[in-house]
Amino acid sequence: MRRAPAQPNSEIAPKVTGLWRDAARLCKARGMTHALTIPTPDDWHLHLRDGAMLRAVLPATTAHFARAIIMPNLIPPVVTSADAAAYRDRILAALPEGSDFAPLMTLYLTEETDAEDVAAAHASGLITAVKLYPAGATTNSASGVSDFARVEGVLSRMAEIGLPLCVHGEVTDPAIDIFDRETVFIDRVLDPLRNRVPGLKVVMEHITTAGAVDYVRANDTNLAATITTHHLVINRNHILAGGIRPHYYCLPVAKREEHRLALRAAATSGDARFFLGTDSAPHTDPAKLQPCGCAGCFTAPNTLPILAHVFEEDGALDRLEAFTSLNGPAFYGLPVNETTLTLTRTPAPVPGCVDTPDGPVTVFDPGFTPNWSVT
Ligand code: NCD
Ligand code: ZN
Repeated sequence: MRRAPAQPNSEIAPKVTGLWRDAARLCKARGMTHALTIPTPDDWHLHLRDGAMLRAVLPATTAHFARAIIMPNLIPPVVTSADAAAYRDRILAALPEGSDFAPLMTLYLTEETDAEDVAAAHASGLITAVKLYPAGATTNSASGVSDFARVEGVLSRMAEIGLPLCVHGEVTDPAIDIFDRETVFIDRVLDPLRNRVPGLKVVMEHITTAGAVDYVRANDTNLAATITTHHLVINRNHILAGGIRPHYYCLPVAKREEHRLALRAAATSGDARFFLGTDSAPHTDPAKLQPCGCAGCFTAPNTLPILAHVFEEDGALDRLEAFTSLNGPAFYGLPVNETTLTLTRTPAPVPGCVDTPDGPVTVFDPGFTPNWSVT
């Protein structure tokens, strides 16, 4: 499944230009779209990390996205408004020359979070959302919430001021099978919580089940969901059948094929409650390829080509922009980006690893060569 890293652009550029010309001619002859221009996408769930890793992975996102919701699960986590301001400054300092990418900061909800600090951070425009990790659910979530009653004060305040809560929706009870943790979370935690705090805007993040899609569809516009690139492409067989593939292991773990198809239907439907959150979560290869490897797929570099391929396959290329560029801003009450991004029908091989001082970070391999490239 692993491929040789892509050659440097300078070597493949003449070949690609030729391919594009051939492809454009063929598409014209068949009446197919060969270029697609959409408002520049946003990523509504992104892990940028910190330090050398931040500097290594940030350009992949700024090349294709105008804004991203930045996950706060650093070590230590981004808990206070002061933490968020400092982290935002580090991200801005690491931006590639000339980039006007906007990091949309979040706070990591703990049982000690101060509602006043949250409200002030929101009022000043510093944060765009608060993130709820059930304690122990995923990477760096030890400081998350165990007793949900203890965060209700903060959540009520958020409902009052219209600040969205981004939720990692998995229970952590070891007795619950890992493939059932999202479903049980909706029943045991999320639905009761939403009833106790009416009016709270909630984003169910990186949903992986048909049940989650149905739950979003059955509710009002205060509830939305992000869907990742990789969950539109892989099911659990890709991780486990014929050998274990650590680069496909992420949380929530991919489920059965029927669930992947439900996610594809939701993402490509144009329904405003579903939008892109890549959950691009870089870990170095040494951290992933070990007896207890880290969870996370690194999809920032090739998300757009993969999505264009997937949407075209499902006859929904005209709805790609709703998923990547329109629905997210509408939910968050932000303007659509005025800049645009153009995709052309040119094959996009899997990009090579991104190097960091701690080792390479392998880019997600969808198992096919996307038909579309970002121009
Ligand atoms: C994320 C990470 O590595 O920070 N991992 C993942 O598998 N998605 C954490 C998360 O979002 O669950
Ligand atoms: Zn994540």
